[in-house]
Amino acid sequence: MTQTDHLFLAVCDYPEHVPEDRWRSYARQQRELGLTFVRMAEFAWSRMEPRPGEYDWAWLDRAVEAYHAEGMRVVLCTPTATPPAWLIRAHPEILAHDTQGRVREFGSRRHYDFASPVYREHSRRITWAIAERYGQHPAVVGWQTDNEFGCHNTGRSYGGASAAAFPDWLAARYGTLDALNAAWGNVFWSMEYSGWAQIRPPNLTVTAPNPSHVLDYARFASAQIRDFQAQQVAVLRELSPGRFVTHNFMIFESGFDHYEVARGLDFATWDNYPTGMLEFFAPPGTAEEVKLRYARSGHPDLVSFNHDLYRCLVKAQDRLGREGRSSPNGFWVMEQQCGQVNWAPHNPLPADGAVQLWTAQAWAHGADVVSYFRWRAATMAQEVMHSGLLRHDETPDRGHAEVQRLDATQFPTGNVSARVALLHDYESLWILDEQTNGGPTYWAQTLAYYTALRSLGLDVDVLHPDDDLAQYVLVVAPALTLIPERRLQKLQADAEERLFVFGPRTGFRTESGCAYKNGQFGHHKDFFGVRCLNFESLRPGLTVRVGDHQAAEWTEGYELLGNATALTTYGSGPLRGQVAAVRNGNAVTIGAHAPGLIGEILQTLAAEVDLTPVLLPEGVRSSRRAGRTLIENWNPEEVQVSADAIHAITSSGSSEALTLAGTSWHLL
Ligand code: GAL
Repeated sequence: MTQTDHLFLAVCDYPEHVPEDRWRSYARQQRELGLTFVRMAEFAWSRMEPRPGEYDWAWLDRAVEAYHAEGMRVVLCTPTATPPAWLIRAHPEILAHDTQGRVREFGSRRHYDFASPVYREHSRRITWAIAERYGQHPAVVGWQTDNEFGCHNTGRSYGGASAAAFPDWLAARYGTLDALNAAWGNVFWSMEYSGWAQIRPPNLTVTAPNPSHVLDYARFASAQIRDFQAQQVAVLRELSPGRFVTHNFMIFESGFDHYEVARGLDFATWDNYPTGMLEFFAPPGTAEEVKLRYARSGHPDLVSFNHDLYRCLVKAQDRLGREGRSSPNGFWVMEQQCGQVNWAPHNPLPADGAVQLWTAQAWAHGADVVSYFRWRAATMAQEVMHSGLLRHDETPDRGHAEVQRLDATQFPTGNVSARVALLHDYESLWILDEQTNGGPTYWAQTLAYYTALRSLGLDVDVLHPDDDLAQYVLVVAPALTLIPERRLQKLQADAEERLFVFGPRTGFRTESGCAYKNGQFGHHKDFFGVRCLNFESLRPGLTVRVGDHQAAEWTEGYELLGNATALTTYGSGPLRGQVAAVRNGNAVTIGAHAPGLIGEILQTLAAEVDLTPVLLPEGVRSSRRAGRTLIENWNPEEVQVSADAIHAITSSGSSEALTLAGTSWHLL
């Protein structure tokens, strides 16, 4: 049972890391802190099965009982992120290969190839064993599969089992080598194949591999993860009825199609480390000034983009159809940073108030449960520099104090009802990033639009382009560079009822990753109302004038078709005089990577569809859920939010100006 009427708090704990005499007292302290759920057994395979076929459940029985006795509800994990040494030495073919073709050795985690038939069998076997043991235990409310698919660049393996399985996957997709050679354009540089076995993963090539080859390898690898997990989910469904099954996805993980992998889960969860995220995952080109300003809090939009993605990842109809296993609005934060992390280039302590701010933000974006990572800081191995709610010496750390002061009952669960959708698609991500051509990455381009929307106080659902768009009045598709024919028809139909905004490089690629023979937008130039004449990437410092704004990194210039109208034109550079942004009926296309222009156009369009956009101060964000509005200040210093802004974002008549201390939030 996980239905909740307000936000619940939880923790990740590792009983196998501490003496048994701690278990009961840790559980009691967790309860006293107001925590409800505990996630455990995540990487504990070497303790569950110390030798082949020899299971030891006694310790885990006692651990589950200890937490149960104190009233904690348990989320168990399949331990497959960490196949033990005996298994690897008996079956080294389980190991994955890196992009250099080297074996990724035993000695940390995630050292397996999703395509390995041997590993699939052991994954099914250990999942069966743990689910058989605990599937009906009264303390166990749900399951997490594995841990963070794709973490440490493990989404794709470039040798061994994956290399062996790839040709068969291609044969099933294309049928004939002629079809594959044509789809990839292999006549270029004499890359044509005359036998399936000749095809290898797209690594170690002299210069860049064929992007179509890379795209299909990404699709193939994603399908391996999907199938690997589906096998576990089937076992858990059979042996643990009534419990939820989820996976803890990662920050901006790009190695697989999350929509494909999430299918079959009850809801998504993700792991939220805001300071590490800013240091490690901020798009290239993020200004040093921004990294400094938000060093102790993380950037609000990097974090909330992931909330909005994972909230919407598992479709509502899948989620709500299963009584008792659903999380009402859609997701948990399975791991929430509560002190310094250990894996970014720099790992500062969070600002005072940051742990509460992160928790409140997660709730406002739809989280039903926020689970802190981890209970006690690890005293051994790779993560001794990482914090927990307790210090190494078991005294409460700074995050603990913030959680203690937080009253989670003030955060009611219920819907986030965004009227703006942002469309996101992994195939576009893969092919765009394979050939950025010096322009912004997929995430950078996507985030430029997302940040513009969030700066205007708008709630955003991040959706797949094939999702139902009925509830939205404004749909923003920042970087859909690969739009198959059937999808474009769907989007055209959607655009009859709502406004659409597209970014540069839209519709440039065919389904196999080539350029359209008749140029960008293929057969749909009439829908966009333009023909692209030229595109270019710009080195840092080289900018182009566009209306009152400056474009950086990427520009493309259009010629108008039919009744389309120019919103603005380029004012300098070789594209001077060409159209930089165009409107054709309900479709707006922006060809310049110019944050100021993007913000201006989105503000005008949002007002046109009655969304009351208002430009919030730098670092201030607002979110609405269940009739409440959260206002967040991510700046280190105090800010004022004007009465007009408060009025626009609450739409509730509330119109008192607000002063927010640095790194703080206010609930209206
Ligand atoms: C996550 C991972 C955890 C732990 C944590 C440290 O990515 O799921 O197991 O390593 O990072 O921040």
